[in-house]
Amino acid sequence: MQKTSVRKVYEDEIKPDRADEAIIQAGEILKKGGLVAFPTETVYGLGANALSADAAAKIYAAKGRPSDNPLIVHICCFEDIHAIVANVPRQARLLADAFWPGPLTMILQKSKIVPYETTGGMDTVAVRMPANRIALALIREGGGYIAAPSANTSGRPSPTEADHVYEDLNGKIPLILDGGEVGIGIESTIIDLTEQVPTILRPGFITQKMLSDVIGEVQTDPGMLAQDAKIKPKAPGMKYRHYAPRAEMILVEGTQEQVVKKISQLAEEMTAAGRQVGIIGTKETAGQYKQGVVFSIGSRQEEEEIAHNLYRILRSLDASGVDIIYAESFETPQIGQAIRNRLLKAAGHQVMQVK
Ligand code: TXA
Ligand code: MG
Repeated sequence: MQKTSVRKVYEDEIKPDRADEAIIQAGEILKKGGLVAFPTETVYGLGANALSADAAAKIYAAKGRPSDNPLIVHICCFEDIHAIVANVPRQARLLADAFWPGPLTMILQKSKIVPYETTGGMDTVAVRMPANRIALALIREGGGYIAAPSANTSGRPSPTEADHVYEDLNGKIPLILDGGEVGIGIESTIIDLTEQVPTILRPGFITQKMLSDVIGEVQTDPGMLAQDAKIKPKAPGMKYRHYAPRAEMILVEGTQEQVVKKISQLAEEMTAAGRQVGIIGTKETAGQYKQGVVFSIGSRQEEEEIAHNLYRILRSLDASGVDIIYAESFETPQIGQAIRNRLLKAAGHQVMQVK
């Protein structure tokens, strides 16, 4: 066990030309091959020098992550992409102009300097420039190329607050930069630009429509939203049961009225059978559930708020000790897709359709 320090950093106080003392210390740790957790606009990341095989290996050990699951390399300015990507297609520049810094990750052909330990053995590399000043300053101080998966133990919900990181990684890493709650709350959209037709491998805040408005035709990986767990997603990380609470979870889909009725009925049966039931409802429905530990994830009218609350609520359900969770579903073409994708993972693809 090592001691894990937590240092508060305020994004508003970050100056572009002069890094804060805590960030300089964090940058030193990264340059020496160590690990630092830090906030981004999506979720907290667990950073290490992406160009060092040994440093990347430490990430897998701390998270308990399968070593075939590649890491995203974070950069702090577009031009830095040329060192780690073999050839940068025009689409990458267009997308960067439109969405970087921001919640978009691009898959591109890697250059020789990126070790296979970082890319999980693949010849491609995932690259992203995050929209958080703490993150950008840290990347600069840490040498410019920071591999960072979400800073959770593998299989747990991604962290949206420094406390979540501490819960999972206390004793395993030397430093957490605490920049408060993140803004978006779910991980970046991933687009693969090495395919004939650019392909979304993981949905997020940047939607298919936003991408195709910039580069034309964009398709989605059929494995991404498939209810059938046998259709394998292309991003290695998307195949694991992921973002998951400890309890069994079932996603219930249908009209709002049918869903409330079904979940209420299941909650009653399970409670009678002596099981502790958790329910993920919305502002519109939470009051209608009479049994179980009920969480309102936000209003259906504001899906960004739902995305923001999702992982915190999955963690709270764990802490509440329930052993079965029923969740309502979300599926608008905007961020609703990303929310449904994360709920499907959390539920290990258990979906109940009510008609
Ligand atoms: O918002 C985010 O992207 C956060 C923050 C910290 O930046 N990071 C994040 O990293 O979500 P992680 O490791 O939890 O998820 C990375 C995903 C995994 O599903 C992985 O399989 C996929 O990206 N990925 C990485 N490199 C890839 C590659 N070369 N080809 C296909 N998928 C790749
Ligand atoms: Mg992750």
